[in-house]
Amino acid sequence: MVSFSLSFLLLLSACVPSVLSLEQHEPLEQRKPKGDPNDPGLARYVSRPDLAAPIWDVKVYHEDQVAPGYWFVAPYKAINQVDTERSWVGPHMYDGKTGELVWSGSTSYFFTQGNVEDFRLSNVRGKTMLTLMSAGKGLAVILGTDYQMSETKHVDAPRNVNTHELNFVENGTRALVIKSHPMEASKEISKKVGYNGHCKAAFDGFEEYNTDTWETTFDWRSYGKVGLEESTLDDGSISNKCQHNWDFIHSNSVDKTPEGDYYWSSRHCDTIFKISGKDGHIIWRLGGKNSDFKHIGEDMVFSRQHNIRWRSQNDTHTIVSILDNAKGIDVQKPTWENSRGMLIALDEKNMIASVIQVYDHPDGKGGYAPRRGNYQVLENGNIFMGWSEKAQQSEHTSDGKLVMEASFKAEWLGSYRNYKFSYVGHPIEPPVAHSQAYGTPNNSTTTAVHVSWNGATEVAQWNLYRTVANGQVEILVSTVERLGFETVLAYGGYASYIIAEALNQNGTVIGRSSVTKTYAHPNVTADAVAEEDNWLKDLEDDMLWHARGLLSNPIFSFLIGCLCTGVLIFMWWQAKQRNMFRKYFGSFQEQKYSRVPGAGGEREEDVPLHSWRKEGGPEDRE
Ligand SMILES: *[C@@H]1O[C@H](CO)[C@@H](O)[C@H](O)[C@H]1NC(C)=O
Ligand SMILES: *[C@@H]1O[C@H](CO)[C@@H](O)[C@H](O)[C@H]1NC(C)=O
Ligand SMILES: *[C@@H]1O[C@H](CO)[C@@H](O)[C@H](O)[C@H]1NC(C)=O
Ligand SMILES: *[C@@H]1O[C@H](CO)[C@@H](O)[C@H](O)[C@H]1NC(C)=O
Ligand SMILES: *[C@@H]1O[C@H](CO)[C@@H](O)[C@H](O)[C@H]1NC(C)=O
Ligand SMILES: *[C@@H]1O[C@H](CO)[C@@H](O)[C@H](O)[C@H]1NC(C)=O
Repeated sequence: MVSFSLSFLLLLSACVPSVLSLEQHEPLEQRKPKGDPNDPGLARYVSRPDLAAPIWDVKVYHEDQVAPGYWFVAPYKAINQVDTERSWVGPHMYDGKTGELVWSGSTSYFFTQGNVEDFRLSNVRGKTMLTLMSAGKGLAVILGTDYQMSETKHVDAPRNVNTHELNFVENGTRALVIKSHPMEASKEISKKVGYNGHCKAAFDGFEEYNTDTWETTFDWRSYGKVGLEESTLDDGSISNKCQHNWDFIHSNSVDKTPEGDYYWSSRHCDTIFKISGKDGHIIWRLGGKNSDFKHIGEDMVFSRQHNIRWRSQNDTHTIVSILDNAKGIDVQKPTWENSRGMLIALDEKNMIASVIQVYDHPDGKGGYAPRRGNYQVLENGNIFMGWSEKAQQSEHTSDGKLVMEASFKAEWLGSYRNYKFSYVGHPIEPPVAHSQAYGTPNNSTTTAVHVSWNGATEVAQWNLYRTVANGQVEILVSTVERLGFETVLAYGGYASYIIAEALNQNGTVIGRSSVTKTYAHPNVTADAVAEEDNWLKDLEDDMLWHARGLLSNPIFSFLIGCLCTGVLIFMWWQAKQRNMFRKYFGSFQEQKYSRVPGAGGEREEDVPLHSWRKEGGPEDRE
């Protein structure tokens, strides 16, 4: 009897409405994007008023040749922007076909403190992660594909870390970062550029970390190896430069070769250095004042370059890629008629360098990326170029044909690098909905619901449910295809509470918003309000009826039900004791299966047991 009343209590408690979290909207003013709220180049979302994602102008020339994937871009206004608390700063992910926003990380704590650079997918110890450099803090940041912070490594004080590069190499067991080492050069070194004294200059270098322990595994510095006289930067007198921490190298990328040596790019020396991974000596220089290579062909020239990468090698040649900016922001003359991606073959035995392929700036002749940019090889062999100004980016087939280009509408925005990756994001935070009811001109009321799910890549459809404050009743009122970052659903009436549900391509539910209260605009029609009130009242009555019913008459039938169950359990137990079941199965099996040739004993016993259970034998009712 004790157990009966216990189970009854349990049953009752299951009927009591569970406490559900109700989405509480902050006042809209508090969720306004920070900065430039009226710029037409920034997208606004009703469901995420805190975001202000830069909008793209997309031009597709050969749709069938565009690789699948998402764009990874971290917009900013200026590389050293001070006032960085803006909703358009930070890591952003866009649909690589439409340019629609997929994820904005602009509101995450770490990215409201300064620019973000080198936002991309990386192999971190064998796992695909989102990685970036947070300039404001000198942090290397690793996020999961759930957008949660996984790890951070404080590289150095922001002034000493150059946030252009966070390059995971050797299957993600090592990471390369560029460092700046401001120091006073010796008199002897300073004299080489005609400076009488100690020239203050940034002797850049790079550091390699073990990504398990974040211990430094290689620390290379240029002091004593790269001379001040190698700089080609043409921006003022030597004495002025030497008094103001001369950025005479300005390194912007570093990569590792399969042999364990390094390629290191100096923009202000127009030089790629190969550095020994064994003892740190400079193996050769490509480009600049003292190139160790014979440059074959008039196009084998570059300046102010970015993004050196090892690509492949055979017995005689190594292939590397760079972005040849061909022009900087100083007065040095352009070295080519436009910026371009360059694939370069290096014959290191005969020290010959030649161009294999170029990927021209989409603006053609005179099209320059005077600052920043990058060169990425996609999975299908296409080349994806970032040109930095307006975050301009282009995709080319491997033989150089332009298949797509895009740039921000907001001319005042740029990026450091742009990437494209195949990607699946599974945000931990649920979808969000904003619901508002208002009167329509034809004297009816509509509830319009804006839904979005920041970072989700698999949503194909949205369901809209009419519900009550505690979410206990759900009525499906609308299903629509996902339209973009934000989708609008509507209910032809006033629904005071709603739930939005995200479905994937094959109709599986992959996420739900919390119960969201609808704002009723003062012009909602009285009819619609009355209808909603009646619906809610009917539901209340229904629930009361159920509760009453449970408490009064059916106690009897409930007890009877329990009694029947008890009797059945008892019967089953008795039968088991007398081995009745086994006997029964024996005869059953003989009748139906004895003629199946070659069937094994044990399997034969199993088959009828299962089929019988399916038909609802006493065991099912237990
Ligand atoms: C990276 O991993 C692959 C596959 O596990 C292995 O074949 C390769 O040798 C690894 N490369 C390095 C540099 O560790
Ligand atoms: C090695 O690569 C170079 C440059 O791509 C190419 O010209 C050469 O034919 C290749 N050698 C072999 C043996 O494949
Ligand atoms: C009710 O208000 C909404 C929001 O301001 C507006 O869009 C709509 O036209 C109004 N309806 C009527 C009938 O005035
Ligand atoms: C009333 O207008 C809305 C749009 O404003 C429309 O969706 C709805 O079908 C109209 N209802 C009737 C009864 O015409
Ligand atoms: C709109 O609906 C209300 C309530 O049914 C009614 O009183 C009113 O006359 C209607 N107005 C129009 C313009 O149809
Ligand atoms: C349905 O979706 C699941 C999960 O996304 C996926 O594993 C499965 O392959 C899909 N099935 C079909 C038929 O698309």
